[in-house]
Order: sequence, then structure tokens, then C-alpha cells
Amino acid sequence: MLLKDQAAIVTGGASGLGAATARKLAAQGAKVAVFDLNAKLAEEVAAEIKGTAVVCDVSDAASAEAGIVQAAKAHGPARVLVNCAGIGVAKRVIGREGPMALSDFDKVIKVNLIGSFNMLRLATAEMSKREPQATGERGVVVNTASVAAYDGQIGQAAYSASKGGIVAMTLPIARELAQFGIRVLTIAPGLFLTPLLANLPQEAQDSLAAAIPFPRRLGDASEFAALALHMVENPYLNGEVVRLDAALRMAPK
Ligand SMILES: NC(=O)c1ccc[n+]([C@@H]2O[C@H](COP(=O)([O-])OP(=O)(O)OC[C@H]3O[C@@H](n4cnc5c(N)ncnc54)[C@H](O)[C@@H]3O)[C@@H](O)[C@H]2O)c1
Repeated sequence: MLLKDQAAIVTGGASGLGAATARKLAAQGAKVAVFDLNAKLAEEVAAEIKGTAVVCDVSDAASAEAGIVQAAKAHGPARVLVNCAGIGVAKRVIGREGPMALSDFDKVIKVNLIGSFNMLRLATAEMSKREPQATGERGVVVNTASVAAYDGQIGQAAYSASKGGIVAMTLPIARELAQFGIRVLTIAPGLFLTPLLANLPQEAQDSLAAAIPFPRRLGDASEFAALALHMVENPYLNGEVVRLDAALRMAPK
């Protein structure tokens, strides 16, 4: 995908991996719409990269549709979607107070899996109507799963299921959208230093980092953004899930 002057959408773009990706795409000349529930942070990132903030709940059909219209008005229809919006709730199936509330499981699936699919279905419907670029491409989608899709820890039943769903849908959607010249890829990150983990005490961060073979440290959001950019730019990558985890394999405790 030739990125310069093209419209891109980054969900969860107000923070962490999404914000780093929004900055990276903008630095390559893309016009970036920062989709997030957090209006204040989305405005800050958008102002910094001369993009557009779109306050949107990715898991809600009407909110996402309105967001796509708002972004298209500002920048034209997007050729790139990077799905980073996500939540991580750690709960045991059988907790101290009894079985995990079904609403807790539902919420994580709704935001992480259904939210990613919701944005993908709407954005790619618009991409499919565009003229192809010289490479034959009409668009690219990069989703964000997690190593928890393969290697979930205790308490991650909902999170792992949501990310496993993203991994599993990547190939069938890539196969289906090939007819339009739209590529679909997924990154499965290991442990990255974003607000999610930065709030943990240093000791807890160090003990997580100690499980990472090499480099023995948490990932930097710019390293995620670099892979997202490569996926957007490399026309031969399609239908693949790439673990970005410094060889992390967590043994169960
Ligand atoms: N940080 C890590 O170590 C790590 C590891 C594996 C996977 N991931 C995944 O990467 C993605 C980004 O994580 P992060 O660490 O940057 O987290 P983060 O909390 O810094 O950013 C997530 C952003 O998503 C937004 N968001 C949440 N629900 C939303 C919704 N319904 N609609 C719109 N926006 C919403 C939040 O407001 C936030 O700005 C998530 O999908 C997460 O599961 C992160």
C-alpha cells in the first residue's frame, strides 16, 4: 500500500500501541483518524499528528458507522484500518464470589472481538468501492490479537477467547477480501509497556520482563507501530498472524 496522502483509521489511537501507530502512519504522510472512547486523549494525539479525533465505541454498530462517516468527511474514505482498541479484564472462572459474571465475559468479547470485526466490516465495505492503487491494492487491515490467543494465563478466559477469535478470523477474511485487493493481517503482541502495564509497580514490571527471552524487556509501542507500518507497506503479506513477543512463552504457574 502506498501510504502517502491516504486516509487511515487507527482505533484505540488515543493510547499505547494505537497512539504509536497513529504517529507512525502520520509520519509516513497518511491522514489519520484517531478513533477512541477517550475524547480528551484522542484530541491530543490527533492535534499532535494533524489528524482527526473521532469519539467512537468500536463495539457499537451505530457509533462505528457514524465514526466512519465523520472520518471520511475529514480525510476521504480510508484505505487503512488498524484495530488497536481493546480491554483486558482478568477474572477467574470460579472466583471468591462464585462464577464469573456472564456480563464480564460478554463485555470483553464485545469490545475486543466484535469491535474489531465491526470496524473491519464497515471500513472494508468502503475500501472495496475505491479504485485500486498501482499495486492492485484497495486497502489493508491490521488487527491486534495477543499472545494470550495461544498462551493464556489463569484469569484470561475471556481475553484469550476474544484474541483467539481475532486470530481465527484473519485468514478467512483475507481469503474473502482478496477479490477486492484488500489484505488482512493480525499482530499478536507479547508484553508491551503501555499505560496498561505502566501502572504496575516496577517490581511487577521487572518480573514480567524476566520471562522474556530476548530482548529481556517489555516491548516499546514504537516496535509494534513499526510492524504495523511494514504490514501496511508490504503487498505480499496477507492472511498472516505475526507474534511480536521476543520469543515469550509463559509457563503456567
Ligand atoms: N500492552 C500490551 O502488553 C498488549 C499485549 C497484547 C495485546 N495488546 C492489545 O493491544 C491493544 C492496545 O492495547 P494498549 O496496551 O495500547 O492499551 P491502552 O489501554 O493503552 O489503549 C487501548 C485504547 O483503546 C480504547 N478503547 C477501549 N475500548 C474501546 C471501545 N469500545 N471503543 C473505542 N476505543 C476503545 C481505550 O480508550 C484506549 O485508549 C489492545 O487490543 C490490547 O488487548 C496489548
